[in-house]
Amino acid sequence: MTLLIPHNPINIVQVTDPHLYKNAKGTLLRMNTQDSLDHVIKLVQETESDIDLLLATGDIAQDASLEAYHNFIRTVAVIDAPLRWIPGNHDSATLMLEIAQGTDTGEKSVRLANWLVLLLDTSIEGKVHGRLAESELELLEESLDAAQGDKDLDHCLICLHHNPIPGNAGWMKDVGLVNDDQFFEIIDRFDKVNCILYGHIHQDLDFMHKNIRCLCTPSTCIQFKAGVTNFELDKVNPGYRSLKLFADGSIETGVRRVGGYALEADYASKGY
Ligand SMILES: [Fe+2]
Repeated sequence: MTLLIPHNPINIVQVTDPHLYKNAKGTLLRMNTQDSLDHVIKLVQETESDIDLLLATGDIAQDASLEAYHNFIRTVAVIDAPLRWIPGNHDSATLMLEIAQGTDTGEKSVRLANWLVLLLDTSIEGKVHGRLAESELELLEESLDAAQGDKDLDHCLICLHHNPIPGNAGWMKDVGLVNDDQFFEIIDRFDKVNCILYGHIHQDLDFMHKNIRCLCTPSTCIQFKAGVTNFELDKVNPGYRSLKLFADGSIETGVRRVGGYALEADYASKGY
């Protein structure tokens, strides 16, 4: 675990689901994902300062290629903040681990003042849905148990790729975290989890579940429409989330999207 000395409040930026390719010209439903990430990172640079931690919550690559991960690292390197990442369903967790060797990028827990940020891997190589392996459930339990006995640690933010609460479109029924019951059974036994942060379903959500703030963040490329039965893209631009974590446990957060023009995508597509 790294101990970071953060600003007050703690300033976190989350980017998610960039879906980059080996070739920077690669497109996902006609959107150039490197170009859209570039726009989002430029917006972060223009808008944010004094960032304590940059979180990337999965689907870093669409093709799980070495080059795509290097493209990502190079793109976000302009942001002066430590990076932590977790894999999504399109990623290779093994390759990400190899690339992160010798750095803190793959580290799963970060302590910032009286907050703990815990990053859990929900990916299963080759599957769209997610599952927390026994080792991840153990890490969650051990971390929350240690937090419970630590008088200087008051709040936990848990980061995942997959949605632990069912998605809000018919086609999303089977794509989320399948062992959400085990996840919440552990969380329910402790009382310091304030927030669960995720990506995967490419949209902006901010709601309470079991007294815990749940936040889903838009992709840095294509956006999925909520409330539909079959897959549909939403005509809103990519973005990122900023989070301010206060010592009293409160959170100020919002999504910022790139503006001023519409990014091209295949809005008639029936799947991705
Ligand atoms: Fe994604």
